[in-house]
Amino acid sequence: MAFLRPARQLCKSATTPVASTIRPPLLASTQLRQQRRWLATPTYPVTQNSAGSQGPTAMVFLNMGGPSTVDEVGDFLSRLFADGDLIPLGRLQSYLGPLISARRTPKIQKQYAAIGGGSPIRKWSEHQCAEMCKILDEISPQTAPHKPYVAFRYANPLTEEMYRKLLADGFGNGKGGRAIAFTQYPQYSCSTTGSSLNELWKWRQRLEGKTGALEDGSDGTIKWSVIDRWPVHPGLVEAFARNIEEKLLEYPEERRDKVILLFSAHSLPMSVVNRGDPYPAEVAATVHAVMHRLNHANPYRLCWQSQVGPQPWLGPQTQMTVEEYVAKGQKDLLLIPIAFTSDHIETLYELDEEVIGESGHADTIKRVESLNGNPIFIQALADLAKTHLDSGIVCSTQMHLRCPGCKSDRCAESKKFFASQQEQLGEV
Ligand code: FES
Repeated sequence: MAFLRPARQLCKSATTPVASTIRPPLLASTQLRQQRRWLATPTYPVTQNSAGSQGPTAMVFLNMGGPSTVDEVGDFLSRLFADGDLIPLGRLQSYLGPLISARRTPKIQKQYAAIGGGSPIRKWSEHQCAEMCKILDEISPQTAPHKPYVAFRYANPLTEEMYRKLLADGFGNGKGGRAIAFTQYPQYSCSTTGSSLNELWKWRQRLEGKTGALEDGSDGTIKWSVIDRWPVHPGLVEAFARNIEEKLLEYPEERRDKVILLFSAHSLPMSVVNRGDPYPAEVAATVHAVMHRLNHANPYRLCWQSQVGPQPWLGPQTQMTVEEYVAKGQKDLLLIPIAFTSDHIETLYELDEEVIGESGHADTIKRVESLNGNPIFIQALADLAKTHLDSGIVCSTQMHLRCPGCKSDRCAESKKFFASQQEQLGEV
């Protein structure tokens, strides 16, 4: 995140018929069998015991969001620097957060102006969610209709706004109903998905926490489950691999297999990594799966972007990596944003304008397209959602486990709440 500069299981899945619809023709059958075996768990019927009805189902996409206009940058940054899950400033959070965000706002506004006046993340998130719901209505009629919602952590529509919309649309408030919180960060970090879930738990407690038990024994609140990580879903891997193959075609054939693939993900402070955050391992899992799918045809490295400030961050830095390879005479480099599912300032400004634009080799250093409206990716989202609905499982086994160094009461309470939803959904 360019704006951070100052301080700077997968869900237990089951193989479903839809999985075959995203099966890539280029995926070797042996590899596919291996992936399926790894993903395979028994399937169970969907149990929505709140109102005896299988639908509607709310599909809620969680992401950090971004300012849609330059005028929204200030509010976006002030929310971002107030989030101790993302930027831990300790007891000084409420003092330092507003100071840092106010000082950063003019510079970041210029960056958003340079990419067209705002982040496209809302447009892409709403598109991806709506398209996924259309597919789900066809492949999972028992849980239809599927209604799309987006909840951003730092920009509109915020989690509170989304939750109030759910209530206005007839979910909860004594009527029960089923909602899936679907993270749009494929790899789990406590500073991203964890923060979004903590925020969702907070608003659930505020808006539905006092609901009493109904005559049928249920409390009439929304029954939540979570798709909390999906770093090696075959559809995600395939979408990345095809975008890489397509971009590699822009290099002359005789140089193509020498192009270095540079996978770039947002970095984390080492204090978060050393707390035991699962993100670095899950990003590496995605990279390995994509390289496996590409038959390791090119050399590659994983690097990390957006590190700044005096404290140590996970490296190597993307910009430094590019500069070092160029200095060694390697100018054919292909950047792959591997932890983002749509374009935003980290791709459009940080990679395109800064890393590539300032390299002096914009003709040979390129970036693959972001997933955005990629139909293979949207089909993968639908496959993940259907598998989750079929499983009847509230979240992955990994989500129950706190980081070894976690001291956050918010994490503890939030995880306890989501785990308790298994009882509401029915044991599997
Ligand atoms: Fe990872 Fe709390 S910081 S579970």
